Amino acid sequence: MAILITGVAGFIGAPVARALLDRGETVLGIDNLNAYYPVALKRARLASVIGPHPAFRFVAADFADRAALDEALSGTVIDRIVHLGAQAGVRHSIDAPRDYAHSNLVGHLEILELARRHRVRHLVYASSSSVYGDAARLPLTAEDRTDWPLSFYAATKKANEVMAESYAQLYGLPMTGLRFFTVYGPWGRPDMALWRFAERIFAGLPLPIYNQGRMQRDFTYIDDIVAGVIAALDRPPADNGAVKPGGSTSRHALYNLGNDRPEELRRLVALVGTAAGREPILDYLPMQPGDVTATWADIGPARRDLGYDPATPLDVGVPAFIDWFRGYAGV
Ligand SMILES: NC(=O)c1ccc[n+]([C@@H]2O[C@H](COP(=O)([O-])OP(=O)(O)OC[C@H]3O[C@@H](n4cnc5c(N)ncnc54)[C@H](O)[C@@H]3O)[C@@H](O)[C@H]2O)c1
Repeated sequence: MAILITGVAGFIGAPVARALLDRGETVLGIDNLNAYYPVALKRARLASVIGPHPAFRFVAADFADRAALDEALSGTVIDRIVHLGAQAGVRHSIDAPRDYAHSNLVGHLEILELARRHRVRHLVYASSSSVYGDAARLPLTAEDRTDWPLSFYAATKKANEVMAESYAQLYGLPMTGLRFFTVYGPWGRPDMALWRFAERIFAGLPLPIYNQGRMQRDFTYIDDIVAGVIAALDRPPADNGAVKPGGSTSRHALYNLGNDRPEELRRLVALVGTAAGREPILDYLPMQPGDVTATWADIGPARRDLGYDPATPLDVGVPAFIDWFRGYAGV
């Protein structure tokens, strides 16, 4: 029996695969290695984070393409799915909404159909804190309304949750949606603030600071997220008709995976400067469309049900990222 991981060459997918292999699971990983950011980084994650492993098989395939997905699975029996593949990034969704419709809407449907056909024991899928939009009340809880997305990316993540709910209702499929809050750390994504700050500070270039750096984010370290994904995978929602986090009475739960510690962007910048040993030059810019002012996760339900316990503060995680970045980028 294998676990299917989609987006396995991604920032979160690669270390999740590694952790599952480390505990003796068999993993089939799928990724289409698209060029949203450098493919070399995705290949390097496959080689270095996962590495060659007898219990790991990688297939380069588009999960929105049903035939390609069926072919990727031929000869493998899967009993659980960790669906992390998606077109990510808030800002890119303003320029290229169709990429999001393809991977996040059509692709999500194909994964739901796959889960139904294979009658999997559990489908864990990635949602996002962006579903909350610019909420009036913090911290954000899974029961808050999420009907006012600020970006098309957020709209597709909200759609993922309601599509999953319909499959939970129709077919009793056990599913857990995880709303990740600004994940950062080694092997991260070049389109995210921390990488862009690191790249520019080492090049002696000014850092773009939107909204005076006053936006707050509940930054969550990659190791904590990996532990949360695996804890969720091991605990499919019960078939008991009880109300689950997020409000479903079917086998479908929604959890925030954050750090419960919102930090201003300007603190992130200061930590990058200290870790890099350089004084940041700041380029103040207005707030960008699609951006929310603040995120802060209520992680009470994840602590209670999953034993999720994020342990990495920003002043530990940022130097760990910068150390890794120096080696990777050769700076
Ligand atoms: N990193 C964060 O801060 C964050 C926050 C909230 C939600 N998320 C969600 O978590 C998940 C993982 O994010 P990540 O940061 O690892 O992103 P990532 O872009 O590094 O990884 C996603 C992977 O999916 C692959 N992919 C995209 N479309 C595909 C398709 N149609 N077929 C096959 N592979 C495809 C990409 O090539 C990529 O390697 C995504 O669903 C993302 O939306 C991430």
